[in-house]
Amino acid sequence: MTLDHGTQEAPVGTACCPGTYDPVTNGHLDIVTRAAACFDRVIVAVLTNPSKTPLFSLDERLAMLKEATAAIPGVEVDSFSGLLVDYARDRSVTAIVKGLRAISDFDYELQMAQMNYRLAGVETLFMTTNPSYSYLSSSLVKEVARHGGDVSGLVPDFVLARLRERAAGGALA
Ligand code: PNS
Repeated sequence: MTLDHGTQEAPVGTACCPGTYDPVTNGHLDIVTRAAACFDRVIVAVLTNPSKTPLFSLDERLAMLKEATAAIPGVEVDSFSGLLVDYARDRSVTAIVKGLRAISDFDYELQMAQMNYRLAGVETLFMTTNPSYSYLSSSLVKEVARHGGDVSGLVPDFVLARLRERAAGGALA
């Protein structure tokens, strides 16, 4: 018997990688890079969240993301407010793509994915995080940087420089 696997189709559609990105880490970039290999277009969407006080302003986070993703084909950086599903619909997003680091991420991510599907039929696809970054989060990066710890290799070099500036200026205290 011959199995017909069909012809190899070109990747299609638009992925959306939403987040706070305060700041972007190499873990985020790993997911965005891999999503870009699966979709025509990836929108990295930064949440404007008035209830959170981020370390970096929205403009700074957008600028860092643009610099970090400049060399990844098909990636654009944008911001959104309100419900992610409304933004996804406006931008004709095929699927929300998120990284899953550990089982601790799963519970909340599952809830959000199911709610987003319930609200608007928007699909969420999870990518398993590269094990090199499975412990990595923006919050931990900021905490380690605040206490003078070395976060090189965990964020792009220009983000590292920004974190060091903030730590020296006391903004991470
Ligand atoms: O980087 P984060 O903070 O983990 O990202 C969380 C984010 C932005 C993906 C999530 O908070 C979100 O989608 N917020 C938009 C508001 C919304 O749609 N809330 C309902 C989710 S079911």
